[in-house]
Formats: sequence, C-alpha cells, structure tokens
Amino acid sequence: MIEALEVHKVYEGEVKVQALRGVNLAIRKGEMVAIMGPSGCGKTTLLNSLSGLDDITSGEVFIAGQPLSKMSDRKRTRFRAEEMGFIFQSYNLIPVLSGVENVELPLLVSGVKPRKARARAISTLELVGIPELAHKRPAEMSGGQQQRVTAARALVNEPTIVWADEPTGALDSETSEEIMDLLCRLNEEQKQTFVLVTHDPTVAHRAHRIIRMRDGLIEHDEPNGKGVSG
Ligand SMILES: Nc1ncnc2c1ncn2[C@@H]1O[C@H](COP(=O)(O)OP(=O)(O)O)[C@@H](O)[C@H]1O
Ligand SMILES: [Mg+2]
Repeated sequence: MIEALEVHKVYEGEVKVQALRGVNLAIRKGEMVAIMGPSGCGKTTLLNSLSGLDDITSGEVFIAGQPLSKMSDRKRTRFRAEEMGFIFQSYNLIPVLSGVENVELPLLVSGVKPRKARARAISTLELVGIPELAHKRPAEMSGGQQQRVTAARALVNEPTIVWADEPTGALDSETSEEIMDLLCRLNEEQKQTFVLVTHDPTVAHRAHRIIRMRDGLIEHDEPNGKGVSG
C-alpha cells in the first residue's frame, strides 16, 4: 500500500538539515504501524513525505503502486483528499464551526453536495461514538472529545490510509487509551491502513508493527508481538 525507496529529505536553509537519509519501507494494506524515535529524528518529516504533504529531495514514494513524484500537484492534492485522512496532535478544529460542520468540511471542499456531506458527517460521528457532539463548538468539548471529532473528520472521506502525528500527544493517559481503542477498532473494522507517530510506548504497543527511527534512518522495524488487541 505504501512503499518508500531510498527517501532523502534535506531542508535547505542557512544550515542544511538532512532530515531523512535513505529510508526504505513497505507498509501493507490494513497494517497499523507506529513510528517511534527521539525528538528531531525525522518522524514527522517521514510521515509528511509518505503522504505527499512534503516534497522529498530524492528517492520515491509509491502509494497503491503510484509514484507520488510523477503526479501533478493537483492530482496529488486530489489523491490526498480522496484516499487519505490526517490526525494531528493539535486538533485543528475550526472554532466557529460545530462538530458536524468541522467533520463535513473536507467533503464540501472536495465538492460533495451539502445534504450528502451532512449525512456522511453524521454517520461518521456515530461511527466514532460521539453523535452528541454534532452541535457543540470545539470550545465546549474536552480534549479527548475534540480529538474524536478530529478522527471523525479524518475518516469522513473513507480514506484507505490514515496518518496520525502524535494523535494522543496532548491527552492524559486514560483519554489517550480511549483514542487508541477507537483507532484500533476502526483499523480492524474498516481495514484502513494506519501510520502513527508517537512518543508513547503504550500507544505504540497497540500497533501491529513498530518502526524506530534515529538520525533520519530506520533503526529497527519489527512486528509487535502483542498485536492490536493489546
Ligand atoms: N521546515 C523545516 N525546516 C528546516 N528544518 C526542519 C523543518 N522541519 C523539520 N526540520 C528539522 O528536521 C529534523 C527532523 O524533524 P522532524 O521530522 O520534525 O522530527 P521529529 O518529528 O522526529 O521530532 C530536525 O532536525 C528538525 O529540526
Ligand atoms: Mg514530530
């Protein structure tokens, strides 16, 4: 589903930063993969390179067999909108919009008719277990509730791949476990591929596979004996 071949990423600036130094990786459909490693080792850069949010310096990324570098910006943007969902540490919800309005927004942006977008947003809020948050604003929600709305927003387009960068980074351990229960359930039920960056070993241990990075390279990559059910 996701393949990286000799991916290099250099940030050009006053000082050049070699953020990725030749990453090779293959992720199968339906896998839940955790990426760990010290701060600054390139986790976020790898996630953004695999999803095509960032351009890479050399190498190639294939998603479902398609090389990202060969796609036009427009095609890549559309591919992301149709096939991918994103969950970040900061919830990035729009404060003046309600839960359901935040969730339906990506559909409206990609041209889905309002009535259909609303119906899908509501059913996604139900899937994520928070129909009661449909008409609340982010400020009226707890951190865990906001992160669930973010998850609903990431899933509303029924993506084949969900990227999550520190999805539990701003949550206490109990709430973070609830969010991981949710992500694991969705991974099992919807067969989506999940790639998540985390500092937290208890989060990583919920994944099928743990990749450890250091200095822009993959240091370890092994199946996680425990599997998704913990
Ligand atoms: N936009 C950027 N411009 C310049 N350097 C960057 C940029 N983003 C990240 N870096 C650098 O690239 C390296 C990897 O960063 P990052 O991928 O954010 O690491 P991690 O997510 O593992 O903490 C770090 O040295 C960081 O300072
Ligand atoms: Mg990061």
